[in-house]
Amino acid sequence: MDTVIFSGNSNLVLAQNIVKELGQELGKLEIIRFADSECRVRIEEEVEGKTVFVIQSLSAPVDEHLIELLFIGDAVKRGEAKKIIAVLPYHGYARQDRVHRQGECLSAHVVAKLIESVGFDKIITMELHNEAIEAFFEIPVVHISGVSAFRQEVEKIKDEVVIITPDAGALKRSQAFAESLDLPLALIEKKRDLNQAHKILSMKVVGDVKDKIAVIIDDVIVTGGTLVNAAFMLKEKGVKSVIAAATHADFVGGADKILQEGPIDKIWVTDTIFTPAEKIFPKLQIFPVSSLLASQMKKMIK
Ligand code: R5P
Repeated sequence: MDTVIFSGNSNLVLAQNIVKELGQELGKLEIIRFADSECRVRIEEEVEGKTVFVIQSLSAPVDEHLIELLFIGDAVKRGEAKKIIAVLPYHGYARQDRVHRQGECLSAHVVAKLIESVGFDKIITMELHNEAIEAFFEIPVVHISGVSAFRQEVEKIKDEVVIITPDAGALKRSQAFAESLDLPLALIEKKRDLNQAHKILSMKVVGDVKDKIAVIIDDVIVTGGTLVNAAFMLKEKGVKSVIAAATHADFVGGADKILQEGPIDKIWVTDTIFTPAEKIFPKLQIFPVSSLLASQMKKMIK
């Protein structure tokens, strides 16, 4: 076999589903953590002259998962692989895509440089927070739409739907989605407190949403705050129901509880990030993305 596919620990279930689609097995490797939390990686496959994929979602704990990715990449490079491709179903740090306040680090740029520095030749990723960060990489980036996973479901209720942009930054994504299905679009103006993490200062609905099914399109759910606040506003404006559709479910703290108990009627996410059984709740529906990723990888397998 001329291709080896490794996975870090962040989403082994998705990695298994991807290799299944490709009729392969995951390459063997050892990842251990020392008592002081340092990580050590050793690949247990011959990679010389081969095309090697490393699957890893940069989800929470982000830094741990990033280090695993870098260490696997380095081990593969030292094994003299022909080509190394990072498959990042979720690209963490993508939201730190600009310097918001003087003195801040441009984190998404640093992460891009780190990934390149170990010798990856290409990136395959899904639903970047801002696709402009592709420009932070010198190597090619294949960017797959994650929200396309929800397309078929939205088509079933098309006549009643208005697509909602949860903030100005998400406009391009939701606009493209609405246009592709010929659906109306409304916008929520969101102001964040840049001095306090996760704090939203104000929100306002712009557009006609009354008696519609509001489908909010977003890239990621973390605390659930953006979507729950948006849903409260939309219900006040007379929508029939609210569906939140976000590619990445990086649930932290009590996000699962907040979402289940809040005003959103259905929450759609994909499996780019592993959701443990105890964080799955009745309103949540998880859409698989393994075939989307596998079909891109197939194009690179000779
Ligand atoms: C923000 O710009 C992002 O696109 C998401 O809307 C946001 O990060 C979601 O975070 P949370 O669930 O904590 O509101």
